[in-house]
Amino acid sequence: MLFDPVKVGAATLPNRIVMAPMTRSRAGAGFVPTDLMAKYYVQRASAGLIVTEATQISPQGMGYVHTPGIHTKEQVAGWKKVTDAVHKAANGKPGGRIFLQLWHVGRISNRTLQPNNELPVAPSAIAPEGQSMALDYSMVNYEAPRALETHEIAGIVEDYRQAADNAKEAGFDGVEIHGANGYLVDQFLRDGSNQRTDRYGGSVENRGRFLVEVAEAVIGVWGADRVGVRLSPNGAFNSMHDSNPRAIFGHVAKELQRLNLAYLHFVRAMPSDDVPGGPIDADFFRPLFKNAIISAGGFTDKAQAEAALKTGNADLIAFASLFISNPDLPARLQQNAPLNPADRATFYGGDAKGYTDYPTLEAAVA
Ligand SMILES: Cc1cc2nc3c(=O)[nH]c(=O)nc-3n(C[C@H](O)[C@H](O)[C@H](O)COP(=O)(O)O)c2cc1C
Repeated sequence: MLFDPVKVGAATLPNRIVMAPMTRSRAGAGFVPTDLMAKYYVQRASAGLIVTEATQISPQGMGYVHTPGIHTKEQVAGWKKVTDAVHKAANGKPGGRIFLQLWHVGRISNRTLQPNNELPVAPSAIAPEGQSMALDYSMVNYEAPRALETHEIAGIVEDYRQAADNAKEAGFDGVEIHGANGYLVDQFLRDGSNQRTDRYGGSVENRGRFLVEVAEAVIGVWGADRVGVRLSPNGAFNSMHDSNPRAIFGHVAKELQRLNLAYLHFVRAMPSDDVPGGPIDADFFRPLFKNAIISAGGFTDKAQAEAALKTGNADLIAFASLFISNPDLPARLQQNAPLNPADRATFYGGDAKGYTDYPTLEAAVA
């Protein structure tokens, strides 16, 4: 099942294994993708689909040190090297397929990362809890962001459109809108972070409007069959909560279906998540969204992934941490081979260590 081909929008994928988007904070000067990043993605090109690490659409969209962007010529050229290498990856066989994850962090940033050291922006002036890493690697408390003026929102939608256009120039096969994990899109969706009284706040239609406008702009560049959206209906990460997740995420799923998006990618609940109404899983989305559904979060082996596919509610399975430590994860799953454990200490930042030096099965046997 996991190794049956699947059609996702315009693409036919050779298997149902997705490399989940993962920030690794190893971009070079100017937040440009490096040759080492190309090597990392090439090593993982046997995934049915790679979704890149989240990538800022604009200087304002940045919230962490050393994350890549897609808003300058140099960044586009850096990503072009990545996509060319991934497309060529498979030695004569069809190469890998790679989507770019489009990211604006909203309030999950700090002044040192923002243009002119301004306050980060968000739907409402509500500070997340916790701390953020400044450009000099010191930790600073999150500040209450500046609430966006209604008239500014069209400019951010335009930044997404431009970034989607840049992604096309950079040779990607499609794009994923990062609507998960407490960043800008998610901040608009959930009522814990959105207390606006204009047409972007209040009702589920209003809170969903920003995502719909972003999706329409990106579809204008790519066509709906090359665009996906990632959602985390259960997640509390980055101080997120919503009083009625089924209402907002049900509305969003219907809107994404109306737009005929290639896929809906969602993150399952973690045991620590306390979701009003209970955890939201793929069975919630299936009746609302007919195109491909990607389920992510906590998948640890083939049997578990195939059990999720067998329900018919998910069409593909995304793996994150296991793809960090197992570049040849599909081959290992297929053979029920042992999996390398991932070293958390090298998740973010640094060099090749914990990035491109995890052994493949072949290397381990040799
Ligand atoms: C190092 C690391 C970086 C991550 N960065 C992103 C990201 O950039 N975008 C995103 O949507 N999710 C990100 N995630 C979340 C993963 O995509 C995934 O949803 C989560 O890790 C659960 O999957 P797993 O149990 O297979 O690890 C990240 C996770 C890890 C471990």
